Amino acid sequence: MRRRRSQMESLDEPRNERRSGPIDRSLPKTILVLGATSAIAQAWMRLMAAEGASFFLVARNAIHLDSVAKDVATRGATAVYVEAIDLDDISGHVALLERAAAALGNLDCAFIAHGVLGDQAAGERDFAAAAASLQTNFLSTVSLVTWLANYFAAQYRGRLVVISSVAGDRGRKSNYIYGAAKAGLNAFLDGVRNRLDREGVQVLTVRPGFVATPMTAHLPQGPLFVTPDHVARDILHAIEHRRDVLYTPWFWRWIMALIRVIPEWKFKKMDL
Ligand SMILES: NC(=O)c1ccc[n+]([C@@H]2O[C@H](COP(=O)([O-])OP(=O)(O)OC[C@H]3O[C@@H](n4cnc5c(N)ncnc54)[C@H](OP(=O)(O)O)[C@@H]3O)[C@@H](O)[C@H]2O)c1
Repeated sequence: MRRRRSQMESLDEPRNERRSGPIDRSLPKTILVLGATSAIAQAWMRLMAAEGASFFLVARNAIHLDSVAKDVATRGATAVYVEAIDLDDISGHVALLERAAAALGNLDCAFIAHGVLGDQAAGERDFAAAAASLQTNFLSTVSLVTWLANYFAAQYRGRLVVISSVAGDRGRKSNYIYGAAKAGLNAFLDGVRNRLDREGVQVLTVRPGFVATPMTAHLPQGPLFVTPDHVARDILHAIEHRRDVLYTPWFWRWIMALIRVIPEWKFKKMDL
């Protein structure tokens, strides 16, 4: 009886190995980018275009999207498909993702970059403004990842790269609505990774600090700001090394570790 069980276990092992598959360290060749007009996404796409990747680009501003697509094509992309859609409209997600997978043949990677900083003061006054931020920064991404997670799990490979933020590490008065959306996203992605790692799928949560993009153009640009190119290079490195959570630049991991350990009695009196 004991012997028989060990035979069954040994029969199971190779199947489990196949399920996980060999670790895929190759760069993705077929890439879906959601929020493709984001400055960070554009910087990363330029790196991937130079590698000859094919793209399906999604953004809501059709004119901006066309100029981004032309730029990616001239930088070496093998093929570029575009679709203009507002990602807040969750009812269109499944059909959109099916079209993207069909156009590219298959998906190696999905890169989710859309987001809004939102108006914190408006959200404090009016729940509708807070809900709009949660819709864009959290719910729409949850909807996209739900489909993509099942797609990648079915093929036992793939890379899911989602831009979150250090703002999700601790709520603070200046942007806790945005921060709450990103915190929810971080927890959601932790769970998706815990589910998909054994299927051979990389789930990379990107947590940038301050990046000089249109989103932060209204803020004074202090010494902690970096360029989208800096963040894009860090993301590429994290993809190549199959990282789980990327703080970019690296020092934000330690800044946020310090911020998280400040006791609440002290934190609540601070102006952050
Ligand atoms: N910049 C930073 O300091 C910073 C720090 C941490 C995290 N992040 C995150 O990084 C990601 C990229 O932002 P970014 O810095 O590159 O800023 P960005 O250039 O302003 O990009 C944001 C993009 O999101 C798109 N978007 C917003 N709502 C959308 C919707 N409903 N449907 C489709 N697209 C939508 C915007 O499109 P439109 O042009 O049409 O509005 C824009 O292209 C975001 O998730 C952001 O939260 C940024």
